[in-house]
Amino acid sequence: MFDFQNSGLTPELVTDRAEKNAFLLQEALDGFSSFDGSTGWVDIDSCADQALLQRISRKAAQIREEADLFILIGVGGSNNAARSVIEALRPGGVEICYAGNATAPSSMEYVLEQMEGKSVFVNIIAKNFETLEPGAAFRVIRKRMYEKYGADAGRRILATGTRNSRLHQLSITYGWDFFDFPEAVGGRYSAMTAVGLLPMAVAGVDIARLVAGAKDMRRQLLATAARENPALLYASVRTMLYEKGYRAEMLTFFEPRMRWFSKWWIQLFGESEGKDDLGLLPLACECSEELHSMGQFMQQGTPVAFETFLSMELDSPGPELSPDGVDDGFGYLDKMSFADLSRASESGTMAAHSTHLPCLCIHGGHCSERDFGGLFYFFMLSCVFSCRMMGVNPFDQPGVEAYKKNMFALLGKPGYEGLTAELEAKLK
Ligand code: PA5
Repeated sequence: MFDFQNSGLTPELVTDRAEKNAFLLQEALDGFSSFDGSTGWVDIDSCADQALLQRISRKAAQIREEADLFILIGVGGSNNAARSVIEALRPGGVEICYAGNATAPSSMEYVLEQMEGKSVFVNIIAKNFETLEPGAAFRVIRKRMYEKYGADAGRRILATGTRNSRLHQLSITYGWDFFDFPEAVGGRYSAMTAVGLLPMAVAGVDIARLVAGAKDMRRQLLATAARENPALLYASVRTMLYEKGYRAEMLTFFEPRMRWFSKWWIQLFGESEGKDDLGLLPLACECSEELHSMGQFMQQGTPVAFETFLSMELDSPGPELSPDGVDDGFGYLDKMSFADLSRASESGTMAAHSTHLPCLCIHGGHCSERDFGGLFYFFMLSCVFSCRMMGVNPFDQPGVEAYKKNMFALLGKPGYEGLTAELEAKLK
């Protein structure tokens, strides 16, 4: 699954590094118990048990019978995993619309326009229900829901939050269906909880397969010796390249359906690793489009980044290129398929870029529920291993609080008055 032959590092050095960090496998088996909270995802059974999967599937089936539109209100870890699978698989269930992840007026107006004339259900996802963007969007959408449906609106609102949070209390008061955002799972590690699984199920994703794929990957990774362990090897290569002076990692993919997955990956590594003035800047390159922008930089620009190719199996050959009698200069493509073009593009790019930069390859399997489950688990575990090797806490995000506090102060949230004067002076 993980191949580092073009990384410029010798197999001996990499496997030795993985071996030196074998204790991390034991930490994973212990559920990273030395960290407080956020680690509940390591044992998938404890966050996605049969009872939860059945409850979600039943609810999703009911919603699918009635809804034209399902609005997912959430930001960061509260929407990225669901969106990455839904947008890749487009499984043909209810149309999903995203809110609570932007402050631009146009994005809120767009969501309200989408609600017109449709049967709407809403899922507000917020771990502690203090983040401003989802809170503000939920206010506007909730008001519109009660105007539209009267008392029936309550039945159409689902809340995913921490038990005993304000969102939980409101759900009890107003009769919204409530799903647990496990206290012990951080947002960006929440793909395999109700946070990710409920919207996916409404959209028509087979969540049982997704969870099975994650469990298979977990079993495989935790049972493989350090020297051959793909997650430990990947984390070792990342760390060694960082030590050699590389400061960014580009996730390059030739399957555009992985676009939203790359955003999930960026959040996972960016928010987990980028702290204490450390970490690799996570970037993504969607090919072929960005071969004509980032590709130039990777081939000849400042050598700050290495590249990780996320290589996906092709589900079909696509159309064949057959002659149509026009002498267009592309006759050499006759009888080839789009799969042939895609393979040539991927191999050609890796061969070219690896003359300038280290290139790694992760074989991601198919764009399928099973393989998405596996990829989520592989990257989450690799990310924790990388952070541990880098010496940073994978589960906190103190830097995110800085912008939130400033926003609270500028918008007059009680308790932030002290900061308001200081900020206004700075912004003059
Ligand atoms: O991964 C994380 O912990 C964060 O990205 C959170 O998921 C994100 O900030 C959203 O938090 P909340 O659900 O509390 O609004």
